[in-house]
Amino acid sequence: MTATYPLRTIRADELDAWARMITTTYGQDWYEGGLRNAADSIEPGRTIAAYDGEEIVGGASIYGRVMTVPGAVTPVAGITLVAVLPTHRRRGILTAMMRKQLTDLHESGGEPIAALNAAEATIYGRFGYGVASCVAEIQADKKLLALRPGTDLGDGTIRLLDRRQARPLLEKVYDTARRTGVGWVDRTEKFWEARLADGERARDGGTALRFAVHTEPGGEVSGYVFYRSKPRLVQVIEVAATTRQSYAALWRYLIDLDAHAGLTYDGAVDEPLKHLLTDPRAARTSVIDNLWVRLVDVDRALAARRYSTPLDLVLEVQDTFCPWNAGRYHLWAGDSVTCERTQARPGLRLTSAELGAAYLGGTTLAALAAAGRVEELRPGAVTAASLAFRGEREPFHPSGWAFPAF
Ligand SMILES: CC(C)(COP(=O)(O)OP(=O)(O)OC[C@H]1O[C@@H](n2cnc3c(N)ncnc32)[C@H](O)[C@@H]1OP(=O)(O)O)[C@@H](O)C(=O)NCCC(=O)NCCS
Repeated sequence: MTATYPLRTIRADELDAWARMITTTYGQDWYEGGLRNAADSIEPGRTIAAYDGEEIVGGASIYGRVMTVPGAVTPVAGITLVAVLPTHRRRGILTAMMRKQLTDLHESGGEPIAALNAAEATIYGRFGYGVASCVAEIQADKKLLALRPGTDLGDGTIRLLDRRQARPLLEKVYDTARRTGVGWVDRTEKFWEARLADGERARDGGTALRFAVHTEPGGEVSGYVFYRSKPRLVQVIEVAATTRQSYAALWRYLIDLDAHAGLTYDGAVDEPLKHLLTDPRAARTSVIDNLWVRLVDVDRALAARRYSTPLDLVLEVQDTFCPWNAGRYHLWAGDSVTCERTQARPGLRLTSAELGAAYLGGTTLAALAAAGRVEELRPGAVTAASLAFRGEREPFHPSGWAFPAF
């Protein structure tokens, strides 16, 4: 018989034991700063642990973030710090923790969607998470990088600032950019601190962070980049711009950095950079899954975003992991959006995982249908739904692999 390991929220006096379990599982050395960082970052009451007697043998946390989704901004439960001690693997502890998180969110009326970055891509599909956004890992040979003649660079200027000067300007630009960037999340003080961490561990053999800020002729700050130099390589960490001229000017600045042979950047799948280059092949990319989204409650989640075209569709949703979601929904999108239970005949049959994948407007329902993961029950339903769910741009999370920690 499988042993059971009770789950409960950790207490403040268990933080040390919990953090040691996390570092052991993640293959890191224990260090005091790690505990302080973890203790500062987790939200009280939102970390659960699995216990074998008194010992903490697994854990999973939620950070409450606010994410831009197509046409709206919505709370999202950022799933993180998921771990099970190597001594307790394959006994169902992860499964139990995933079920508890989603059940608690459902019962408390918490965030309508959950999202995470997967350490391994085989883990979370079984829990109803779908690949909702990807990241384009760009590697460029700097000799080949050049902007197309006639690129509009505007009349702004770029200044190198120290982190203290740069910080408030970064925050202002980021907060404007994130409101229209699907996949971007709000960044409060502690998340900025984490994003701009610059100790020995964060540098990983590179220099301290360098901050370049773009200012319009009128004095308005309209973009920034921060990056590190590594031996012969510029590691671009984040670029944000509120005008196309600022975006182009910041890339010109990066391209012009001498004494570096290569450049790396984790960008959007439809990163405009490619279209600015005379040689689009100069920015070689490999695309890999980034945000995985899970609908906690199908009706609340589907009503929390907007759609690209009007839609009047009945969905038959299957969901064995979160059975409260199973059933038929009438999704109606026009000037407003409603999603309600119905008995009407369905146009599409799919699981919550396909809806999670399509939620940010990146992965298309048409592609999922072509893979046999969405079943069309009424002719034309796939095309109509696919167009309506699709966003204008590819979703992108600017903090790369670190969601929801930045
Ligand atoms: C990934 C991890 C949390 C799994 O925990 P666990 O308690 O052993 O998982 P469960 O026993 O609940 O397994 C559930 C299912 O997932 C599968 N599974 C678990 N870990 C897996 C992995 N790494 N790759 C593929 N499948 C995995 C199991 O085989 C099981 O499948 P089954 O139901 O078909 O038998 C654990 O291995 C771990 O802590 N790994 C290191 C840290 C890590 O990767 N964390 C995830 C961060 S995003």
